[in-house]
Amino acid sequence: MMMRAVQCHQFDGIEGLTIDQISRPDPKDHEVLIEVDHAGLNFPDLLAIQGLYQIKASLPFTPGVEVAGTIVSTGAGVTRLKARQRVLAVVQHGGLAEYCCAPESSVVPIPDQLPMAQAAGLAITCGTALHALSGLAGLDESSTLLVLGAAGGVGTAAVSIARCLGARVIAAASTDDKLAFARKAGADELIHTERDSIGDRIKVLAPEGVNVVFDPVGGSQAIDALKSLAWQGRYLVIGFASGDIPSIPANQLLLREATVQGVWWGQWLGRNPAGGAADFMRLMRWIGEGRLTLPEPEIISLDEVQSGFERIQNRQVTGKVVIRIGQ
Ligand SMILES: NC(=O)c1ccc[n+]([C@@H]2O[C@H](COP(=O)([O-])OP(=O)(O)OC[C@H]3O[C@@H](n4cnc5c(N)ncnc54)[C@H](OP(=O)(O)O)[C@@H]3O)[C@@H](O)[C@H]2O)c1
Repeated sequence: MMMRAVQCHQFDGIEGLTIDQISRPDPKDHEVLIEVDHAGLNFPDLLAIQGLYQIKASLPFTPGVEVAGTIVSTGAGVTRLKARQRVLAVVQHGGLAEYCCAPESSVVPIPDQLPMAQAAGLAITCGTALHALSGLAGLDESSTLLVLGAAGGVGTAAVSIARCLGARVIAAASTDDKLAFARKAGADELIHTERDSIGDRIKVLAPEGVNVVFDPVGGSQAIDALKSLAWQGRYLVIGFASGDIPSIPANQLLLREATVQGVWWGQWLGRNPAGGAADFMRLMRWIGEGRLTLPEPEIISLDEVQSGFERIQNRQVTGKVVIRIGQ
């Protein structure tokens, strides 16, 4: 059987993407086949289609690392899941298609009240934010957190999840609209990064410094944020959306007994499926209880995939963009 799928034939970025008819995959052992309802777009997809992601796919491939949909069939050895279950899944690639196979270990049943469009956009962002903030940084009610890129995909998730963990959240973003979005996601305080210096604002908002920085942006913001850490603060290196990987001045760590913590959620999930499953259960419980509410994603059609990626690349998106694939 054939299906529609986004295809990357060369590592030449957004321009080279096409929507083709390709063969529908069959689930291998320990995999399920999912009829994709919605799929999330992510910044790392942009890296993948340029051949710049940490793990390079072989050409041609279908990008897309997170989906929500309904299980159609299961491969041999699948024990926990069955056909017709509503699920979300994280995959290495292949998500931007009508059907997609996913290993059982990275498929999570979703509550009935969670719309597919929201489910499709939460795995990577919320998974990363929960692992980084709770698992690695031990964020709690006594903590103050600074989130850079706070209206981006992973930044918005960090704001919402930090609120669930009871922390005070300071959100930094580059426009008033983005700051309003971060406020809606749960931020207590705001820093306009085009108008204000992060360092000066933190001196007012948190005179002792912040306990944790969540940084998906890098560049010059990273150095300002590092200098805003409190004694024994923790700096979470999430990504480099600015395109600039900062060099961390070691003296700034010494002065604060600070810790820099690298975060690679996808690798951690592969190495620690039990920890990933526990985090997903926690997220689904919070959503079921109404404790974690995420902003509505922007929904576009499969034919608009290139413009969706362009808007992420051009820094125009607030929150998440998801592709509607099902009817
Ligand atoms: N470590 C992990 O496990 C993990 C997991 C997921 C994502 N990531 C990484 O985290 C980063 C952000 O991902 P995301 O999905 O949140 O991306 P996103 O939705 O595009 O948000 C990125 C944010 O970065 C800021 N930014 C600053 N300079 C930029 C530039 N030149 N181009 C684009 N954005 C720029 C923008 O905020 P302002 O305009 O407000 O500055 C933007 O909202 C990426 O590097 C991604 O690879 C890492």
